[in-house]
Amino acid sequence: MTRRRVLGIGAALGAMAATGLSATAAMSRRPSYTGAELRSAVPLPPAFQVPLPIPSVLAPVNGRYEITQRETTAEILPGVRTPLWTYGGTFPGPTIESRRGRPITVRHRNELPVPTVVHLHGGRTPAESDGYPTDLVLPERWSHGGHVMHDPRAVQTRLTRDYTFPLDQRAALLWYHDHRMDFTAPAIWCGLAGLHIVRDDAEDSLGLPAGRRELPLMITDRAFEADGRFAYPALDPTLRLRPGVRGPFLGGVLGDVILVNGAPWPVHEVDAARYRLRVLNASNARHYELQAITDDGRRLDLVQIGADQGLLASPVTHASLPTAPAERHDLILDFSDVPVGARVRIVNRLGSGRTRDVMAFRVARKAADESRVPRVLARDLPTWQRRDAAEVREFSFRAGRMRGGHGWLINGLPFDPARTDVTTRLGDIEVWRLVADVHHPVHLHLVGFQVLSRGGRAPLPHDAGLKDTISLRPGEAAEIITRFDGYRGRYLFHCHNAEHEDMGMMANLEIT
Ligand code: C2O
Ligand code: CU
Ligand code: CU
Repeated sequence: MTRRRVLGIGAALGAMAATGLSATAAMSRRPSYTGAELRSAVPLPPAFQVPLPIPSVLAPVNGRYEITQRETTAEILPGVRTPLWTYGGTFPGPTIESRRGRPITVRHRNELPVPTVVHLHGGRTPAESDGYPTDLVLPERWSHGGHVMHDPRAVQTRLTRDYTFPLDQRAALLWYHDHRMDFTAPAIWCGLAGLHIVRDDAEDSLGLPAGRRELPLMITDRAFEADGRFAYPALDPTLRLRPGVRGPFLGGVLGDVILVNGAPWPVHEVDAARYRLRVLNASNARHYELQAITDDGRRLDLVQIGADQGLLASPVTHASLPTAPAERHDLILDFSDVPVGARVRIVNRLGSGRTRDVMAFRVARKAADESRVPRVLARDLPTWQRRDAAEVREFSFRAGRMRGGHGWLINGLPFDPARTDVTTRLGDIEVWRLVADVHHPVHLHLVGFQVLSRGGRAPLPHDAGLKDTISLRPGEAAEIITRFDGYRGRYLFHCHNAEHEDMGMMANLEIT
């Protein structure tokens, strides 16, 4: 049962104006270690009323993409104005669509009141553009520079930075988000997240649902203050100096409103045809177990065709699909048997009350469907074998002490930019054994990996394909195998529960 508790906070609201964040929302605590849930202080709209927004696709200017990070206000809940931190004025930010092997440059301009760092999650990116947490883009006027954790290798710029992405990688749904040292979680919460789709000819030739029938779905949870701001339990609501969240939220911050592409419990009109749903769980800490159900209670299969790092070898059918923060699932949902006028709800079996609903589709019309879902989707998946591993390493992901308080540790240590945790050779294959105390979605930068085992047994159906984030369940050990391929330099691996990440659960990976 959900226990609800109300926190009385006499917080200095004036100081919070800069971020639009506040910490006075009522809170309910769920009996789980993945986080505590904030409760909104505004009336919430009924589900399935707001149309699903599709983030606009960014056009390059003189061969370069330009994104200005700036504050704005948007109407997320009908009739409620919510201040946001955005990429280019929208949440989600604009989608970048790129082609495999065609390098792009994105110039980010930071007009926010705090430093930022951009990371392309899932990108095979040279270290200098990978968004290392201390490689800050400082605002034009920022005088606190020196407080940032000492890191002699940090490369900081003021106002703008050009990120270059070779995109020499499989076609996949990637996403870009803030990665600033100690403040990633609240920055993403404020709105700093966007999609990036890499395409290639092989995928284009498969005949998968495309155009209007390919929908990116960025799922997040948020909570709202009475005045419309996002609620967030930051210790320093200006997000300038002091990192961290209030005690009850050390496990992660959950909201009581589910947003898809920035809209609450949206609805989307579809043809009675196959759709390709490119699902990203961009929530800070919330896990979902997705299911598609018609209003008369019939369950539709979720046919998975791709994972974090692109297409599977062949489709995998799920009755329900768990998704952890930062994971992507490329799904085919077939509405052809659904009567015109009927509705299909996407629900979250791990939710309760309002958080059980995610979004809905309303079948609007019969239509021709030329799309196909081939039995063989890709032939380029790696065939790494355990015996090829040059190294087998073990990492624990556990709660512990950090800076005299609570933290989240990898092998007993909180993140330190000055310490190299793992040194590996470019081209080497390694097996990593990851052990968790509570839920930890573990993410590696630069490389994709395959899941070798889970809990000492074969991987689960949703472990299929090439991943960059693996959801470790409480008390579980899993093994992954990868080849450290791409570029030399300093990279990261970390828990993608964004609050855990900010509270120490990150480590350095040096590729030499
Ligand atoms: Cu989604 Cu280190 O990142
Ligand atoms: Cu990443
Ligand atoms: Cu974690």
